[in-house]
Amino acid sequence: DWILHNEEFIREEELNISKEDRGYQFGDGIYEVVRVYEGNLFTAEEHIDRFYESAEKIKIVIPYTKDVFHKMLYDLVEMNDINNGQVYVQITRGHALRQHHFPESTSPVVVAYTKTVERPLELMRNGAKGAFIEDVRWLRCDIKSLNLLGNVMAKQEAHEKGSFEAILHRGEVVTEGSSSNMYGVKDGIIYTHPATNLILNGITRRVILQLSQNLGIEVQEMAFTKAQALEMDEFFMSSTTAEIMPITEIDGNPIGQGIPGELTKNLQQAFEANLK
Ligand code: PDD
Repeated sequence: DWILHNEEFIREEELNISKEDRGYQFGDGIYEVVRVYEGNLFTAEEHIDRFYESAEKIKIVIPYTKDVFHKMLYDLVEMNDINNGQVYVQITRGHALRQHHFPESTSPVVVAYTKTVERPLELMRNGAKGAFIEDVRWLRCDIKSLNLLGNVMAKQEAHEKGSFEAILHRGEVVTEGSSSNMYGVKDGIIYTHPATNLILNGITRRVILQLSQNLGIEVQEMAFTKAQALEMDEFFMSSTTAEIMPITEIDGNPIGQGIPGELTKNLQQAFEANLK
């Protein structure tokens, strides 16, 4: 497979990253995961906009225009002949002598690669389990940063409990998943945490808000508590790779009927129709 390294398409064996790359040493960089359906980059513009926004928030200047960047990602998918899969792309502040503050001069390093991935259809149909985990991450969760230790530790804890995803909460308030956004449905209304500094404003989340509007489903971007989560009629999560995934139980407690809810299934259908 081809890999994008800065402006060049190279082979994996040719990739050479410095021992003092700031991404490697400090997690000093940002990333995106873009889904590929039938050879097309799904919601590419939204992901590219967020990539540039995240970079700007940590003062990394991306060395090419959005159009050039879009074309390079598209070419990579085509060169690797990816039909259904994903593109992973990251940019770091580059390499410099190890010191915490930004180096005087450095060039950012971009790496992008592709991978074939199937849609998690089975779990999407049957639903997944969630586990409450305390959200101990920093206060800039709106940045899609390479610093994922808080997310990794939470996902691992959920995994050890036999759950698919960690449902993060700050005190009593549910924020998001370790790599997804979270939603509860009560009396036909969808509740989800507002897009503040405490969550990543997911691209799938934005698609869901738009689809809900089209379907005439009310959405309240309003935080809810762990106790309220357990009282929801339906619960689901969303991400680029998990799409819209029903959560049928949390810490062993069934949510609603303990099976994927009707509203969740309607949204999944609308999402599916939107891919064509
Ligand atoms: N995760 N919240 C967090 C903390 C995330 O890491 C992600 C995405 C989301 C959902 O965002 P989106 O709908 O744009 O994928 C929410 C990606 C997929 C990952 O790290 O693999």
